[in-house]
Amino acid sequence: MTQFGKPTGKLGKILAKGFAFGHKDFYKNTASVAELTESDELLEIGFGSGMFINKYAKHIKHIAGLDISPDMVELAKEINSKLLDEKKLELIEGNILSLPWSDDSFSVIISIESFFFWENIENALLEIYRVLKPGGRIVIEMAFNLEDGQDHTKDIKKIGFQLYDEKNIRNLLKESGFIDISFNYYKAFWIPIKGYIVTKGMIFKACKPN
Ligand SMILES: C[S@@+](CC[C@H](N)C(=O)[O-])C[C@H]1O[C@@H](n2cnc3c(N)ncnc32)[C@H](O)[C@@H]1O
Repeated sequence: MTQFGKPTGKLGKILAKGFAFGHKDFYKNTASVAELTESDELLEIGFGSGMFINKYAKHIKHIAGLDISPDMVELAKEINSKLLDEKKLELIEGNILSLPWSDDSFSVIISIESFFFWENIENALLEIYRVLKPGGRIVIEMAFNLEDGQDHTKDIKKIGFQLYDEKNIRNLLKESGFIDISFNYYKAFWIPIKGYIVTKGMIFKACKPN
């Protein structure tokens, strides 16, 4: 995986801090779709620097996060040390394909700029479904997607992600058992390495039936 898919070492930490800055609008739009409330039990997959939690999740009763990169776990722990001290937050190194939580654990699961790096997406969605409480929701953001009308050939080469369109996602979600599937789009400026206009960033939402 590239430094984007699994930020590693000193360079990975610098890059992740860059994401924290450059993804500000991605976080804001995701938070607005997720409508996180104090009584939520939140899981974030692929939290990177942990800055979304720091800015948008502090008011939540219980927060958990999982990231495949041990260096991101270390960085996110530094950034969220107060929440850790208050025992409101647990941050774990691991892969989406094997979540270390029991069935029906979370009322909301979010992921920002990570979904398109996951291998075996069918099994990843089944894992998400398993740990989500009945009636719970997932909110997943991807700045680049097949609905944005852009040529991503160079980005795929450099960053190494998979592109999805609404139809792919709808089918994948239905096969995993999700209902109430909806799509939101936003426009934003993305800065880290070279300025980009994200023309049609995608945020999809779906629920586990009660
Ligand atoms: C581009 S970064 C985004 C980080 C953060 N969400 C943000 O927007 O600032 C992608 C993150 O997903 C994590 N990741 C990639 N594949 C993963 C997997 N299979 N399971 C868990 N985390 C994963 C990476 O380690 C990385 O921290």
